Amino acid sequence: MKYHIVTYGCQMNVHESEKIAGILRQSGYTEESSIEEADVIVFNTCCIRENAENHAFGNIGALKKLKRNKRGLVIAVGGCMAQEAGKAALLKEKFPFIDVMFGTHNLGELGSLIERKKAQKKALISVPEERKETEDGVEPVRTSFPNAWVNIIYGCNNFCTYCIVPYVRGRERSRKKEDVLAEVRSLVKEGYREITLLGQNVNSYRDGDVAFPELLDAVASVEGDFRVRFMTSHPKDFSPELVAVMKKHKKICKLLHLPAQSGSNRILVAMNRRYTREKYLENVALLRREIPDCELTTDLIVGFPTETEEEFEETLSLVREADFASAFTFIYSPRTGTKAAEMEGRIPDEVSKNRITRLIALVNEQTRKKSAGYVGKEIEILCEDYDEKKGLYLGRDEFGRMGYFASEKDPLGKFVTLKVDRANGISLYGIAITKEV
Ligand code: 5AD
Ligand code: SF4
Repeated sequence: MKYHIVTYGCQMNVHESEKIAGILRQSGYTEESSIEEADVIVFNTCCIRENAENHAFGNIGALKKLKRNKRGLVIAVGGCMAQEAGKAALLKEKFPFIDVMFGTHNLGELGSLIERKKAQKKALISVPEERKETEDGVEPVRTSFPNAWVNIIYGCNNFCTYCIVPYVRGRERSRKKEDVLAEVRSLVKEGYREITLLGQNVNSYRDGDVAFPELLDAVASVEGDFRVRFMTSHPKDFSPELVAVMKKHKKICKLLHLPAQSGSNRILVAMNRRYTREKYLENVALLRREIPDCELTTDLIVGFPTETEEEFEETLSLVREADFASAFTFIYSPRTGTKAAEMEGRIPDEVSKNRITRLIALVNEQTRKKSAGYVGKEIEILCEDYDEKKGLYLGRDEFGRMGYFASEKDPLGKFVTLKVDRANGISLYGIAITKEV
């Protein structure tokens, strides 16, 4: 029996889909296939912005015919959107052919839900409001070798006013340090070369007396040839201890993803971010002083309710001052149930679109300038894929920059030093000078 998983949203969801695949394998689904050939199709949804939801709505709707023509096909919909208040009912009404619906709190139940559904005609909807059965202990089917994702903390307690995550993911729960370390050790033994520690807010990690910097220190102290990334960090929890650990270990990528969201203090208060622009820039200065070659990336929202042109320009100037290497940029999307969705002063679409276009242009210009500065230099990348179209292998350096190169041998999963001879946008092209490739 074959399965197909459709994933929307962030890396957390990508890793969760690896766990869904693990659950399906336990239930007798042995092989991943195309959507047309699958016996079970699982949608792992996201609800962080309206377009993520619309995307899923469109794709689920498109299955109506397949479902009608294929007896025994099971369609399951789960994840953040299914967990959202009232959404499961809406989904079921819109798409009566959905067989199983599950939430973020009972992912571990998916196997038994599918089994139970097969024995009955009626759809099975199980979206508990509280944590019910976790996926801890499920062996994921990893799909991103040589990188492996490792959850360290689930949920979020921050309640930024625009964000739906705390409502659909529940309160923060950290995994035990020993469990995280055991997973990392076994992944390194298996040959994974990059470990990415995952959490909505990794800086909130706590296992007894162990906070995030100590956990990171312990992970980077595991023996082996690998590098460590982590995401996402909240600026309010940024600490000198974290910088000290980043500085101490060569294995830790000198890249910090630190979502700023806005450059305006008034908007930061309205967003309930609990730091100021000045504090954010102080942290950046500390990081650059201690680790001069580090890079920063960020998330930015434009068009938050009541944002003025001047306040938006403060975001532009923050991008320049913090010298971000790149940024994920978003137009504010009202999410039902969040505080910001109740706020007055919605920004018209054309204004938000104009702002995001200007923001993206600035970010791209900075990224391009940084890339161009790499021509003639050496970078070390971890080879992760082969680009058929270009006929070149590719990988990322510790700062997330993509490097392309030709190779006679198979360098997948290897660290390769490239001499960069050309930059095109954010991509770097070079010659491998590592002996074995
Ligand atoms: N509208 C737009 N962007 C959002 N994000 C979270 N919620 C919203 C929303 N309602 C962005 C933030 C966050 C990233 C994961 O998604 O920038 O850091
Ligand atoms: Fe959402 Fe804020 Fe939590 Fe991030 S820290 S998941 S933006 S509430």
